[in-house]
Amino acid sequence: MNAEAIQQIGVLGAGQMGAGIAHVAAVAGYKVALADVSLERAEAGKAGIAKRLGRAVEKGKLSAEDREAALARITPVVGPAGLSTCDIAIEAATENIDLKRKLFKALDEACKPGCILASNTSSISITLLAAVTGRPEEVVGMHFMNPVPVMKLVELIRGLATSDATYAATLELAAKLGKTTITSKDSPGFIVNRILIPLINEACFALQEGLATAADIDTGIKLGLNHPMGPLELADLIGLDTCLAIADVLHRELGEDKYRAANVLRVHVAAGWLGRKTGRGFYDYRK
Ligand code: CAA
Repeated sequence: MNAEAIQQIGVLGAGQMGAGIAHVAAVAGYKVALADVSLERAEAGKAGIAKRLGRAVEKGKLSAEDREAALARITPVVGPAGLSTCDIAIEAATENIDLKRKLFKALDEACKPGCILASNTSSISITLLAAVTGRPEEVVGMHFMNPVPVMKLVELIRGLATSDATYAATLELAAKLGKTTITSKDSPGFIVNRILIPLINEACFALQEGLATAADIDTGIKLGLNHPMGPLELADLIGLDTCLAIADVLHRELGEDKYRAANVLRVHVAAGWLGRKTGRGFYDYRK
């Protein structure tokens, strides 16, 4: 599959990341099949995109016609089977190895020959996912950043068997979506999370040691280093369950103590305080 031949993009997972990818693909002019476990969830993902595109119209960044045209290009569907006509399927499900392996097997069965299978995983080995398919040369990592419509970067990850043609097609597709790419080897956390998650985790250790309040840790990094958000508020945006899942992959796969997750992160996840998406994380969003 080359980039010119890509006309329909499948997105598996209509949550925060999947909906963001579908949003960007539809605005760029692609037909999009947006899949989730149920049609209701896929439709909810599309409804969220409609809302965000509506805000862009209010701000004068998009015309009402372009909003309608982009929305008309998105079709909510159910599961991997709903992506059978796509030219590339981008998996954006929960960061869980067993789940992603199951989904890649299902995508391999459902998608037509030649369809590229990409994962938006933030830390799981692309080679491991490719190995459950019959087309490892067409499996690649396409890691978007959150919020997808705002962030300029896509991190591309080549698995051991990823072909040059698959890599070239995803490189060109990312450019057509208006993104700048970087390329990483298939190694835990790739480039961005290899560096970001230890930063967030260190902020968690500082918090649990009582070094400073969450607000002061965040203000320190925001104003002292000119980051748009402090590490704890960014963790709340990403989702503390996702941060913990990535920290656990780094610790297990790289095998060094420096990557072990701070207990304060683990207990927040155990409590179900997962950040903005549940209304409470290191900060309280319920007011
Ligand atoms: N979807 C679409 N657009 C969004 C959005 C969303 N979810 N959230 C914010 N925006 C848009 C707003 O509409 C606004 O657009 P305009 O400039 O066109 O008006 C713009 O983003 C700025 O938003 P706000 O004015 O509301 O707020 P802000 O200036 O505080 O910016 C932010 C918000 C863009 C999130 C900014 O704080 C930021 O860049 N934070 C850092 C984000 C970051 O680091 N992301 C990477 C996370 S790591 C990751 O994703 C990898 C991983 O695997 C864990």
